Amino acid sequence: MGPSAVADGGPIFIDLRSQPADIGRARRQDPSPGVPTGRATPISLHRITLLPGDGIGPEVAEIVVKILAAAGTTIEWERHLAGSAALGACGEPLPPPVVESIRRNRVALKGPITTPVGEGFQSINVRLRQGLDLYANLRPVKNLPGIQARFGNVDLIVIRENTEDLYSGLEHEVVPGVVESLKVITERASTRIARFAFEFARRENRRKITAVHKANIMKLSDGLFLDCFRRVALDYPEIESEDKIVDNACMQLVMKPQQYDVLLLENLYGDIVSDLAAGLVGGLGVVPGANLGDEYAIFEAVHGSAPDIAGRKIANPTAMLLSALLMLKYLNEQQAADAILRALEKVLIDGRVLTPDLGGSATTIEFAEAIIAAL
Ligand code: NAI
Repeated sequence: MGPSAVADGGPIFIDLRSQPADIGRARRQDPSPGVPTGRATPISLHRITLLPGDGIGPEVAEIVVKILAAAGTTIEWERHLAGSAALGACGEPLPPPVVESIRRNRVALKGPITTPVGEGFQSINVRLRQGLDLYANLRPVKNLPGIQARFGNVDLIVIRENTEDLYSGLEHEVVPGVVESLKVITERASTRIARFAFEFARRENRRKITAVHKANIMKLSDGLFLDCFRRVALDYPEIESEDKIVDNACMQLVMKPQQYDVLLLENLYGDIVSDLAAGLVGGLGVVPGANLGDEYAIFEAVHGSAPDIAGRKIANPTAMLLSALLMLKYLNEQQAADAILRALEKVLIDGRVLTPDLGGSATTIEFAEAIIAAL
């Protein structure tokens, strides 16, 4: 695919091609509150915080660093450990220099970080999202050329509120055998994420936003989220708005995902539906993401540390690479992002060098080498 096809709005990744840079442009020209930032001017040397993470994280992160360098980007990476590796090395899973580095650089690329189940330290992901107020989690879910998927013509944007809900981390034991987890929903955060979704939809010419909730049962918390959505929707009459109860939305998604355009969800539903949506278009190996706030941005794939395949050198780096492309767009490095995307598409369409999750037998490194060769 040539550059003109990309410029003409080729078949994949409307978000990769236009959205994050548009977010930046929106801020520069129209500094409306609630719209996240990009950098003010394109610059060629970028200093970016890199958290390779653990499990398959370092395997895919280093590959992505190589591909970005091969495409001619000049990025100075500040590498930091986080999670159990940092706990072992410095006695703290999220050492202060990590957060300082992101605050200084404003942009980070992050691999997955394992969170201990049912015990241990609080999720580093949640701490970063809350601590840096990265309130919007944006996940474009779209078919890639050459990738066999359960559905075609899927073009969804999952927007997940990233700072509250059951992820507030407020749990306690009332009496032995009885625990409470507090679900926190606020008018401020619900309005802010609804505004983000509508602003995004307006800029990207998306036709419809579906708020997903369980307000029939959680009348106060999900009811508030839904009320805020409906109130914000009044300011955007050109964008269709509707709401669906989460269980029905999941069924509809696995029956006819094409009916949806932008999905807006609270934190927990957004977490679950993101993985479900990834399954529609080829799995977790291919879906990128961005955590966006007014000041900082962390780009990371939807997937986790994949302990089942860690160390086997077969992880698919596509999701992390596409997340890095979202980052390049955010940094106004459009050309490099387009070039890498074209190379990735070539390799996927060619189909000879694919990782096992995509039906191939290539290693992560072989897949990356094919992309670099196609650049
Ligand atoms: P997971 O996303 O790590 O893996 C789920 C399944 O997808 C596994 O079968 C895995 O092999 C496959 N998979 C994921 N990424 C892949 C890739 N790039 N290429 C090929 N196959 C891939 O989810 P799981 O197992 O539930 O979580 C493992 C750990 O990751 C947990 O500790 C969890 O807390 C953490 N996690 C971290 C995230 C982050 O740092 N943002 C996000 C999600 C989970």
